[in-house]
Formats: sequence, C-alpha cells, structure tokens
Amino acid sequence: MVNRERGEGVRRGDVQGLERRPEPTTALDEQTLREAFGCFPSGVIAIGGMDGGDPVGMAVSSFTSVSLAPPLVSVCMRTSSRTWPRLRGLPQLGLSVLGEGQDTVCRALAGSEEDRFAGVPWEANEQGAVFVHGAITWFDCTLRAEVPAGDHAIALLEVGRLWRAPAADPLIFHGSRFRRLDSGERSAVPA
Ligand SMILES: Cc1cc2nc3c(=O)[nH]c(=O)nc-3n(C[C@H](O)[C@H](O)[C@H](O)COP(=O)(O)O)c2cc1C
Repeated sequence: MVNRERGEGVRRGDVQGLERRPEPTTALDEQTLREAFGCFPSGVIAIGGMDGGDPVGMAVSSFTSVSLAPPLVSVCMRTSSRTWPRLRGLPQLGLSVLGEGQDTVCRALAGSEEDRFAGVPWEANEQGAVFVHGAITWFDCTLRAEVPAGDHAIALLEVGRLWRAPAADPLIFHGSRFRRLDSGERSAVPA
C-alpha cells in the first residue's frame, strides 16, 4: 500500500534535492492552512470608500492583478466581514498598495472598526474612493463581479485610473509577519 505521508508512491527526479522537500501533513485545519498559505508572500492594500461622510475600509493581502484589457484586479473578502457589505455598494473604491514601513497603517486598517482611519492620513476623490497617503500605488476601481468562494467572495474590480511610484518599496506580508525587500540586485524577467 502506498503511504503518501512518507512520500511513497511519489515519483522523484532530483534525489539530491530531497532534503529540501516540504514536510507532509494530512491536516487541513485552519491553522495548518494559514501556515501553508502564509508561505506565499504578498503585499497589502488598503481598500476604502466614503460611506455617509466617513471613510470606511480595511487591509487586504489577497489582492491580485487579473487582466490588462480591460484592467481588472481581484480581492477576496471574508463572508463574515462587516466592512465589505458597506464597501460593495459604493460607486467607486480606492485601492492603495501599502509601502515599506506602513505596518502601523495596516494594523490600524485591520483593527477596531470605529477608528480605523483616525491615525491614517488619507484623501478621497470626488467619487468617494479613499486613498492612503504614503502608499506606493493607488487605483480607483469599480466593482464588476462577485463570485462566492467558500468562506470568502472573490471581488473583481475594474481599474479606472491609477497613480504610481514603481521605484518605491512595498510592505511585504509573509508567514503572518511584515517584512521588507532587501536591497540586493534583482534579475529582470522578460516582459
Ligand atoms: C495583513 C492582513 C491582511 C488581510 N487580508 C484580508 C483579506 O485578504 N481579506 C479579508 O477579508 N480580510 C483580510 N484581512 C482582515 C481585515 O483587514 C479585517 O481585519 C477583517 O475583515 C475584519 O474586519 P471587518 O469585519 O471590518 O471586515 C487582513 C488583515 C491583515 C492584518
């Protein structure tokens, strides 16, 4: 009988690289999944909009670029979120890619709902999209579709306009920690 826990029945090409295999587990509980998903590094964005004169928003690491034509991005929102139902009906949403050192901004935007923007410098455009100062890219977006996905919903957003500072370093989220890029040489990827 094949024992997948010990890696039996799995074809191996690189015997030299065996010591670099990740540890097997049969667990799929929330903690294990969080740890495994957390191996994939991401940035963090702030998503925000004006709701009745107040800025409303939250920190989100599930941001992904989706399409160039039309320009689409996606975020995944937990179904239990109290903020997403307030954001999803707004005409426009602001997405701000947080920059290196904006750990506190991220914590504030994931924290207690009443005073999320109290210590966060922000501005809103005429359509009510809320942007965070100090972020390295802003997108103004319109919600185009929402797909249920387990305990989250995938929200597809179309970019209307953007502001960018491509040379600035982002805030990195990895393994439940905030990190920064090192300043070492980076090799280019062909376009
Ligand atoms: C680094 C980081 C990344 C997060 N990413 C997401 C995310 O992708 N989707 C999501 O629904 N919540 C995410 N959250 C949680 C929200 O920011 C927020 O805390 C949560 O939705 C609860 O607040 P709410 O009920 O107002 O939505 C993240 C929090 C942190 C600190």
